Order: sequence, then C-alpha cells, then structure tokens
Amino acid sequence: MFVVVGVSGGIAAYKTVQLVRALVGGGHEVHVVPTEDALRFVGTATWEAVSRHPVTTSVHEDVAEVRHVALGTRADLVIVAPATANTLAKMAGGIADNLLGVTLLATTAPVVVAPAMHTAMWEHAATQENIATLRARGVHVVGPADGPLTGGDSGPGRMAEPDEIAAAALAVIQEADAAAAPASPAAQDLAGLTVAVSTGGTREPIDPVRFLGNRSSGRQGAEVALAAADRGATVRLVAAHVDEGVLAAAERHPLIDVVRLSTAAELETAMTDAAASADVVVMVAAVADFRVAEVSHEKIRKENGAAHLDLVENPDILAGLVAARRPGQTVVGFAAETARDDAELRERGMRKRARKGVDLLAVNRVDWDAGFEAADNAVLLIDGTDAVVAEAAGSKRAVADALWDAVLALR
Ligand code: CTP
Repeated sequence: MFVVVGVSGGIAAYKTVQLVRALVGGGHEVHVVPTEDALRFVGTATWEAVSRHPVTTSVHEDVAEVRHVALGTRADLVIVAPATANTLAKMAGGIADNLLGVTLLATTAPVVVAPAMHTAMWEHAATQENIATLRARGVHVVGPADGPLTGGDSGPGRMAEPDEIAAAALAVIQEADAAAAPASPAAQDLAGLTVAVSTGGTREPIDPVRFLGNRSSGRQGAEVALAAADRGATVRLVAAHVDEGVLAAAERHPLIDVVRLSTAAELETAMTDAAASADVVVMVAAVADFRVAEVSHEKIRKENGAAHLDLVENPDILAGLVAARRPGQTVVGFAAETARDDAELRERGMRKRARKGVDLLAVNRVDWDAGFEAADNAVLLIDGTDAVVAEAAGSKRAVADALWDAVLALR
C-alpha cells in the first residue's frame, strides 16, 4: 500500500518514527511529509532512513513531477501523526500553505489523524469544532490518550501509541476494501488449470559469505500465484530469494505449493520440472544473467590482493521453457526495463517479446526508485502479434489479475 505519513510539529514526532518503521516492515511504501516545524523535532535524515524515500517539505521541489499533487493522488492512506492543534485547524479550513496541506487537499484516500497537544488546547472550543468538522468529512481520529504530558502535568492530549495508530489505520483500509470488494469470491475462471510461477531474485554465490544478487522483492510473482489460486488454478510457486513475509499468504493457500531455492541453476531445474505438467508458465523471477565461474570455498580475503571475478553466462531459463513448450501451453515472461519514455519502453518490450518467443510479455519500467521493492507496479502486456493487449497499473495484485485476464483471452 502507498501510505503518506504527515508529521506536524510536536514532541510526539519521535514516536512517529516507530510508526513509519512498522508500516515499512509491513511491506508498505511509505512517504513522509513533515512540516517545517516537525523538522525541529526529528530531522530529514531520520525520516529518509526509516521510510527509505526522499523527504521534502516544499511544494517547489520536484515541480516537474508535480510531487505535491502526486503524493496525494497516489496515496491509499494518509496518516497525520502527530496532528497539532494548528495542523488540525488548517485541515478543517482547507489551508494548503505547505506540502502536507496540499497533499491532504489532493487526496481522496482515507485520512487518519492522531492528535497530540496540551489538554487545554485539545479542550478548546476551536479545536473541538475543528475535530467535529473533520470527523463529519470522514476523517478518522485516533486518540488522544489521557496521561502524563511533556509539561509535567496530565490529561487528554498524549498522542496514541504507534502500534495503536498503525492498527487503526490498517483497519480503516480494510473497511474501505471490504466495502469496495464484490460480495462474491473471485470468479473461478482458472479452475482446472495447472500453472507454474517463478518469483524473487536468484543469488549466485561468490564465496561462503557473498553472492551476486538483485533487488527483486518477489512480491509481484507471489501476487501472480495468489491471483491464479484464488481464481481456481493449481499453482507451483518457485521462489528464489524474496523479502521477509512475501510468501506467507502463498504458503497458507491450499492450492499453492511453494518451492524455495536460491541459484539460477536450481531455478532452471525446478521450473523445467513444474512446466512439464503446467498449462501456463509465468517467469517473474529476476534471474542473474551471470554466475561466478569458480565459487571460492573459502572466504575471499583482501590480503590476497585486489580480487577479480570471472563470470560465466547462466542459461536463459525462459528460452529453454519456450523451446520445450508443450502443445497448448502458454508461456509468459516479465521484463524490467529502463526507458526514457513510454514509446521506448514499448519498443524494447516488443523486441524482447520477439527475442524470447513468449506468448505474452509483461514489461515494466524500472529506475533507481521505481518498480523493485515498491508496493505498486505498472506494466504493458504485449502479445505475439506485438499488440499491447493491456496496460495495468495499481497494486501488484491488480497487475496480476490483469495478467491472468490476458492469458485467458489468449487461450
Ligand atoms: N530470464 C530467464 N533466464 C535468464 C534471464 C532472464 O528465464 N537467465 C527471464 C526472466 O524471468 C524474465 C525474462 O527472462 O521473465 C526477461 O528477463 P530480463 O532480465 O529482462 O531479460 P534478459 O534476457 O536477461 O535480457 P537483458 O539483456 O535485457 O538483461
């Protein structure tokens, strides 16, 4: 999920660091938008380190990307913690004199606020009226708690604890999802199909402690497997290295058999085996193109002088699967490409589709901060006639469902 965490200027900002960490740890993409005042309590470097994204307070940075609007429109959820009396008043009045204010006006996502202030300020009629206005607009208010305040006295005004805010925020999202979800379970339009999906990034050992790897989190492949199983397919999910927790839902799913491994060679064996009985094969894994020619069985030490590595090329697993394709089998590839614009992305995608000989290629644009590790994805789906049969953007699950729709249309 794409979560914006607004931070206004209160001492409780230090607790919001914990909130951001919890959200990032839960696999969410978190962008922190502090006010200038908030930075007096916790600085930019801390927010960037815990959120793993650049932080700005200004509407005048990244103007080309219209960042001030983009954050609000992309958000699935906005949390303001701590929300000071001043920030609540500005929200109630629709004042947008900083990046947080603009983001809040630009968003249609659910908003959760965690007020924090002195009791007298909380109880003031102005604050109470502002809170009532915000609640009437659908803003969710968590806390404040009653307890000791920074000034040494006690009363309502303490910011709720980070885990309480995170739980409340995620509950708001679940409620919104449940309201939006169709009443019936997913259509069983893949029932009777057997599918093989690879995911994650392979790791090629250098010595007992080092490897060549990549930034793939495995999330997109896990969602491809889950979407197929929810639609009735029997799935073998072959997973190279993935981020913590990414396989949890797949491992619990009765229709998914998860196989974990590490290197490209192991992935080739497992996928060749799974493909032998599959109707559809989807290679989402980021496979290392090269491996180290001779793996050192001892740790390579720097006193042995400047090291260099001889690399040899790994087999192209997808090409092998295409060559061995069973009659009626559909083979799907993924390609992560860097490109200057959509036209170049399309052009590269078409060339790679033809080179790989797959029935369908999902092409996505990657950059230093787009594609890998992110909660959302955007792909072009190109078929064997070079037609872009779909453009899918949104959650990795939405992209997975669009991919299965395209596979069904092809079959
Ligand atoms: N792939 C594979 N075996 C490899 C490399 C890639 O099966 N040794 C698969 C990936 O799983 C993906 C598709 O091929 O489905 C495209 O991967 P990509 O890395 O984009 O392709 P490469 O052939 O490595 O091309 P490039 O020269 O652009 O790196």
